[in-house]
Amino acid sequence: MSATPVWVQLVYLACAVCFILALKGLSGPRTARTGNLVGAGAAVVACVVPFLYLDLRHVPLILGAVLIGSVGGVVGARRVQMTQMPQMVALFNGVGGGAAALVALLELHEILAVPGGGDLVEWFVLLATAFTVFVGSVSFAGSVVTFAKLQELMTSAPVVFPGLALAFGVSLVAGVGLATQLTISPLLWVGIVLALVGLVFGTLLVLPVGGADVPIVISLLNAFTGLTVAAGGYVLDNVVLLVAGTLVGASGTFLTLLMARAMGRSVANILFGALKGGSTLGSGVASDRPVRSAGPEDVAIMLAYAERVIIVPGYGLAVAQAQHTLRELVDVLAGRGVEIDYAIHPVAGRMPGHMNVLLAEAQVPYEQLKEMDEINGDFKDADVVLVVGANDVVNPAAKTTPGAPIYGMPILNADEARQVVFMKRSMRPGFAGIENELLFEDNTTLLFGDAKDSMSKLLNAVKAL
Ligand code: TAP
Repeated sequence: MSATPVWVQLVYLACAVCFILALKGLSGPRTARTGNLVGAGAAVVACVVPFLYLDLRHVPLILGAVLIGSVGGVVGARRVQMTQMPQMVALFNGVGGGAAALVALLELHEILAVPGGGDLVEWFVLLATAFTVFVGSVSFAGSVVTFAKLQELMTSAPVVFPGLALAFGVSLVAGVGLATQLTISPLLWVGIVLALVGLVFGTLLVLPVGGADVPIVISLLNAFTGLTVAAGGYVLDNVVLLVAGTLVGASGTFLTLLMARAMGRSVANILFGALKGGSTLGSGVASDRPVRSAGPEDVAIMLAYAERVIIVPGYGLAVAQAQHTLRELVDVLAGRGVEIDYAIHPVAGRMPGHMNVLLAEAQVPYEQLKEMDEINGDFKDADVVLVVGANDVVNPAAKTTPGAPIYGMPILNADEARQVVFMKRSMRPGFAGIENELLFEDNTTLLFGDAKDSMSKLLNAVKAL
C-alpha cells in the first residue's frame, strides 16, 4: 500500500500523460516544439511536487544541486553548436544514469541503516536496486567515453587490445554475480563494488566502437539510462519516475534499432564488430586521383537551366551553417521554374533528424523535404543533383563493395542523375573514411570550398543570369 496522497498520484498521472503526449508531439516537425514544452513542463511539475508533500531533509543542499544543474543545463544547451549536439546528449544521458546509480546506493544505505532492514525488504526491491546501480554505472561510464570520442579528447577509432573480450566477459559475469549476491543478502560494500564493475563494463563496451557508430551507442546508452531510472522509480516508489524511465527506455531502444537499420547494420555488429578483428572505419586518406572541378558560374548555369534538381544535404552543410543561403538559392531557382526538392537520408549528418532540424531552422517548407524511400525513384529523372557537404549517404560503395564499412547501408541514388555536383572543401572522404567513386565519374563536377562561401557565390551567379 502506497502512502502517497491521492492528489500527488493524480498529479503524477497527469505528468505521465504529458510525457506520452510530448513523445507524440516530438514525432513530427510541426508539433515538436510544443511536444518539447509539454514534456519539460511536466518534468518541472514532477520535480516540484515532492517539496510539497514529503518531509524532505537537506533542502538547502537539494536546492543548491538543482540550481547548479539548471545553470549547467541552460548554459550548455544555449552554447552548444548543432554539430556538437550528440556529445551534449551523451553527457546529459551519462549524468542521468550516474545519478540514478548513486540514488540507488543511498537508498540501499538507508535500508541497511535500520537494524535487520535487509530482511524486511522484498527481494525484488533489492533486485531493482542492483539493476539500477549496475546499469546506471554502465550508462555513466559508457557515455563519458562516447563524449570523449566525439569531442576528440581521445581517438575516435575503435580501441581494441589483447584480452579485451576476456575482460569484457569477466566484468559481465562479475556484475551478474554481485547483483545476485546483493539481491540474496544485501551489503553496502557489494553495492559499491557492483557500481565499480559497472564503470569498467561500460568503458569496455564503448571502447571498441568506431566514431561513425558512436551516435547509435549514445542512443543505446540512453535506453539503458531510461531503464535504470524506471527501476529507480520502483525502488523509490515513485510512479512518475517509473513511467518516464520506461518511456525513455522504449523510445531509446526503437531509435537505436531504426538507426542501425538505416545504416544497414545490426546492433551486435556495431558494438562488437571491431572485436572480431575488422575496423568499423576506413583509412580516411584523401585521394589524389584526377576529378572534374568547376567554378560557381559554371554550376549556376547547370542549375538555372535544369528542369529538375535534387539537393542532397549532409554533415558539411551543418558545419558550414550554409542552410539559409541554400534555402535562398532554392527559392531563386524555384522562381525560375526549376522543380526542386531536398532528399533527406535518415543518417545524414551526425544525429537523427539532423538535416530536418537544420533546414527547418532556415524556414524550408516541410513539403520540400523528401524522405529517402519517397525520392529515390526520382534521381534518374533529375538533370542535376547538388550534393552539399554529404558524402557517405551517396557513396555507391554501399551497394557495390562488400567489406566496405558502409556496405549494405541504403543510399540516395544520386549516381543515377544526369549530372552530379559535389560541394566540399577537399578530396577527404566522409565520416566512414572511404573513397567515394562517384566523385570520379564523368558526369560529376566538384565545386571546391567551404559550403557557405561557395553557396553565396553560387547564389550571386544564379541571380546574375
Ligand atoms: P559525411 O559522409 O561525413 O560527409 C561529410 C562531407 O562534408 C565530407 O565529405 C566533407 O568533405 C564535407 N564537409 C565538411 N565540412 C564542410 C564544409 N565546411 N563545407 C563543405 N563541405 C564540408 O556526411 P553524410 O553524407 O551526411 O553522412 C553521415 C555519416 O555519419 C554516415 O557515415 C553515417 O553513417 C554517419 N552517422 C550518422 C548518424 C546520424 S543519426 N545522422 C549516426 C551515426 C553515424 P571535406 O572535408 O572535403 O569538406
